[in-house]
Order: sequence, then C-alpha cells, then structure tokens
Amino acid sequence: MEIQEVLTTKVFGKEIFFYEQTDSTNIRIKELAKQGKKEGVLAVAEMQTAGKGRRGKTWQTLRGTGIWMSLLLCPNMTPPETPLLTLLAGLAVCEAIREQTGLSADIKWPNDILIRGKKVCGILTELDAEMDKVNFVVMGIGINVNTECFSEELKQVATSLKLEKGESISRKKLLCAVLKQFETIYYQYEKEGSFLPFLSRYKKYCINVGRPVQVFSKNPFQGICVDITPEGELIVEKENGERVTVFSGEVSIRNL
Ligand code: BTN
Repeated sequence: MEIQEVLTTKVFGKEIFFYEQTDSTNIRIKELAKQGKKEGVLAVAEMQTAGKGRRGKTWQTLRGTGIWMSLLLCPNMTPPETPLLTLLAGLAVCEAIREQTGLSADIKWPNDILIRGKKVCGILTELDAEMDKVNFVVMGIGINVNTECFSEELKQVATSLKLEKGESISRKKLLCAVLKQFETIYYQYEKEGSFLPFLSRYKKYCINVGRPVQVFSKNPFQGICVDITPEGELIVEKENGERVTVFSGEVSIRNL
C-alpha cells in the first residue's frame, strides 16, 4: 500500500510504520511513543497475531483483508476527557465509510461501527497518563474491509464492507479517508474544546437513541436510551422513570 501517495493530511500518517505481521499495532505505537515519536505517527499491519479488542477480548485480523492501524495522539486534555476522542474517531470512521462506499454505516455508542446491525469496525483507545496529564493516547482502529468469511460465532455479529457492498473496497483509499476525516475532526475539537459542534452529526448516525439498552456497570440495568449529552454521555431512562447518565469510560451497553 503506497498510502502516502493518496494521503492529503497534514499530521496524521505523515510517518508510517508498516508491518507485514505484528502482534498488535497498538503495542507498536506504545513502543514508538516511548521512543519519542510524536503525534500523527501511524502503525499499519497486514496481519496481527494478537489483535486486541475492548474489555480484554481478542480481535480477529486475517491477513490482508482489513485495515488494522493505530495512531499516536498527544492531546492537550486531562485523562477524564479522553473517552471523547473515541467518540470522535467513531464519527470519523462512520463518515469516511459512508463517503467511500455509499453504505449506511451507523454508530453504536460509543464507537462501534455497524452496517445493518453487524459490526464492521471496532476502536480500541489506550491511554498513557499521570493523575492530571495525558502523556499519549493510542487510537487503534480495525475495519473489516474485504473479509469474505467469518467464523460461525462471529458471523452472527460481524460483517465486512465487501460483504455488504458486494464488491471489493480499496483499503488504501478508505484508510486515507479515515485519517483525513479524523484529522479534521480532531483539530477542530482541539480548537473548540467541546463535543457540541459534533453532537448533531453523531446523533444522526447513532442507533441507540430511542432504543432499549442494557447497561453493564457495577449495578447492571435496562432502560431506554433517550438522548446523548453535549459531553457525549448516554442518558438512559430506567423503567421507574429515573434518568441515569452513562459515561463511556465506565460501562458497556448491549442493544436489546
Ligand atoms: C473492539 O473490541 O471493538 C476494538 C477492536 C480494535 C481492533 C484494532 S485493530 C488495530 C488495533 N490494534 C489492536 O490490537 N487493536 C486495534
């Protein structure tokens, strides 16, 4: 992939480390950050042998079928603000997929990208921080682009852009579109310091609003997702009418 020939970004992906095979691009970026690499450095792999998913799960990455990449960010924000980056990355991927494929990609809060209810993209954000200072953030993005078959178990919940579109999608063009879109959104966010300018776009694609959800926290509960706050949190109404604000760093949700 000669990514740089197509890339029109200013910072993201200007330096790329490409791996035919590695354990996890998130691990590579952590190492590169510790070696002093700066914001925008990208690690891309054809295949990962230990792809990491959220909540300690593994992420299946077959050779050459998807986009498996991680981006180094050094945002000027406090640790509690960083979950917002995950929402912004989800928005960027959703919009890039729509633009490049014409498919109706949706967001499942906070940042899974689904097509017709099945997952095509997962995002794993990892943070290196002190009490009140972020050292760096690793934004790991996995997109099932041209995957043709999934295991029996995954088939129920996962899909690829090729399976949905019925034709192969250029990984290079999509990768560049994701980086471009995310760079625009990220620096606009950094300038304005608020999720509010992105809220209506995010809500337009988010499938949770108005639907029942199960919230997994210390005390799991069910309810209806009634809205998303300007801080990117989910407002869930319980059966007794009580409204609870759900923060993406703390819980996971399942659609009912
Ligand atoms: C999820 O569980 O939804 C998150 C999956 C994130 C997968 C990507 S693939 C590139 C990067 N490297 C990893 O090890 N994980 C992320």
